[in-house]
Amino acid sequence: MTSIGKLVLIGCGPGSADLLTFRAAQRIASADLLLVDRLVAREVIAHAAPAARIVDVGKAPGDGGVQQAGINHLIRTALAEGRTVARLKSGDPMVFGRATEELCEAVALGAEIEIVPGVTAALAAASDAAISLTERAEIQSFSVVTARTADASTPDWVSLVRPGSCTAFYMGVAQAWRIQSTLMANGAPGSLAIEWVENAGRTDCRTISGTLSNLADTARRKRVRNPAILFVRYPLSAAASVGAVRISG
Ligand SMILES: C[S@@+](CC[C@H](N)C(=O)[O-])C[C@H]1O[C@@H](n2cnc3c(N)ncnc32)[C@H](O)[C@@H]1O
Repeated sequence: MTSIGKLVLIGCGPGSADLLTFRAAQRIASADLLLVDRLVAREVIAHAAPAARIVDVGKAPGDGGVQQAGINHLIRTALAEGRTVARLKSGDPMVFGRATEELCEAVALGAEIEIVPGVTAALAAASDAAISLTERAEIQSFSVVTARTADASTPDWVSLVRPGSCTAFYMGVAQAWRIQSTLMANGAPGSLAIEWVENAGRTDCRTISGTLSNLADTARRKRVRNPAILFVRYPLSAAASVGAVRISG
């Protein structure tokens, strides 16, 4: 009887081969089947064994549902054949990576699983933009949030973007106006600094600064494109100055 294989979810970083970890390279080298996401740097595939099968399963934004079923099927079939499946994901597999769905496929078969962390896009973007995600006495929390949800609901951005916070929005380009208008309608000052970081961690990285009040306009004028991270920083001192204006007004 064939024994059940192993599923390894591998974080491949933000899309440049030199941000791949040693562990990720080792696991790629020992896999029989590689299922590769769209934003993974193509150079990392060079670590694969010569006999490994490589399948590009890249999903464009919005077409994830149908393709995910196909990916799950590939995982199940290969595991049932006793193969080691490396699922190459951009950034870190546990951050907006649909990891649970794929892990469940393996667990249901009784397969071994392993997760290899990677550099998530927000961390690469913070380095590119030289943004400290926390700041003594000013920024006490750092959150990551999706700008796009599976249904039409608006994620609770307002409770995250509060005094003392830094928030990284993933998948935010098409939602720029909704983010700006929602936050400002709920009291966030238009003067808050924002930063778009396009292609973080790569040689073609671009950083674009603005304020919350011109967030959507900046994205449009500067033609910000996916993949991009949006940072909204709300230092405690900004909240204090809003309070002062209100009191004197
Ligand atoms: C489905 S999520 C995958 C996130 C990934 N698992 C991670 O940890 O970075 C895709 C989103 O991640 C962000 N992203 C991924 N790679 C990026 C990069 N190199 N630069 C900027 N943003 C990136 C973008 O917001 C993109 O729309």
